Amino acid sequence: MLTSRSGSSESRRSSLRTSPNERPPSSVPGNTILSERRRKRRDDSLEGEVSPAPTQRAAEPVASLKNLHISLERNGVRSDVLKGIDLEIGRGEIVGIVGESGSGKSVMTMSMMKLLPESSRPHIDGEIRAAGHDMSAISPKALRELRRHRIGVVFQDPMSSLNPTMHVGSQITEKSGSAEESIRLMEAVGIPEPRRRYRSYPHELSGGQRQRAMIAMAVAGDPELIIADEPTTALDVTVQAQVLALLKQTQQRLGCSVVMVTHDLGVAGQIADRIVVMNAGEIVEQGPSHQILSAPKADYTKRLLAARLSLDVPGPPPAPGVTSKGSR
Ligand SMILES: Nc1ncnc2c1ncn2[C@@H]1O[C@H](COP(=O)(O)OP(=O)(O)OP(=O)(O)O)[C@@H](O)[C@H]1O
Ligand SMILES: [Mg+2]
Repeated sequence: MLTSRSGSSESRRSSLRTSPNERPPSSVPGNTILSERRRKRRDDSLEGEVSPAPTQRAAEPVASLKNLHISLERNGVRSDVLKGIDLEIGRGEIVGIVGESGSGKSVMTMSMMKLLPESSRPHIDGEIRAAGHDMSAISPKALRELRRHRIGVVFQDPMSSLNPTMHVGSQITEKSGSAEESIRLMEAVGIPEPRRRYRSYPHELSGGQRQRAMIAMAVAGDPELIIADEPTTALDVTVQAQVLALLKQTQQRLGCSVVMVTHDLGVAGQIADRIVVMNAGEIVEQGPSHQILSAPKADYTKRLLAARLSLDVPGPPPAPGVTSKGSR
């Protein structure tokens, strides 16, 4: 079931119910009060902000990048990392971002949440819009609200995102606003014995369980968009498949959009409606997943696919500063 963001957030939230073969927690109160509380908290946090009208939100993509150029500095050397990206993420859509290491996938997704480190002195040219905000003009208050409730993130290494000194459940509650709701979410993402696990520290969970905890945290804010950056790379194949299935189910239950970053076209094909292929800071090709996988147009995509099929090296990497334009 895909529900649009214009539908009530209550209907979307209550659709994040446990599936029929999942047992609901014994004493979780109805969601209505929690939802009201969450809606109020969101309204309060937006008091005084010019927030986009709901109809406007429903009509516009959840995120859009227009002619985006980003350069970053490392050790005093500045390099062009994104070179004119145009991309829209539609409501309820799952978009796979694929490309080799260093192609700019993480920089692109981090820019949607204004998470690029100040230490790398980002120069940003072009337009970034996310959850109805122009990111070049967003206030600190609206940015906090966007990160807390409107965009959820799942990173490759949950240990780098989870606080090692805090119970996992309490970290989820910082976003969900209620321990009972957190326990419900922990159960929904398949963490066994969620009541007991609520008081576990991150290091006491397995890798797969930590990734599930990250997903619970990402969805706890009832987001419009989940950004998952290589969420399964560190996991073994079986757990990888489970986490991918969980992300897809979560997206269907919430009706939110998902941006799934991966270097693996096969992983993108398993989950995404649309695949965007990046190389050296540019989008070389994008289209429906089945089309990219069965009839790729760009030579670069063909090489990525061939590499996946044969496990051979996909031809020489582009020389530094050389874009893939010639091979489109
Ligand atoms: N903080 C930073 N400062 C300077 N350069 C950076 C910074 N972060 C990334 N870069 C550079 O930007 C380019 C794109 O990096 P990015 O992390 O987006 O690649 P990626 O496609 O996510 O790769 P991977 O698959 O390895 O995660 C790389 O050349 C990288 O060295
Ligand atoms: Mg990355």
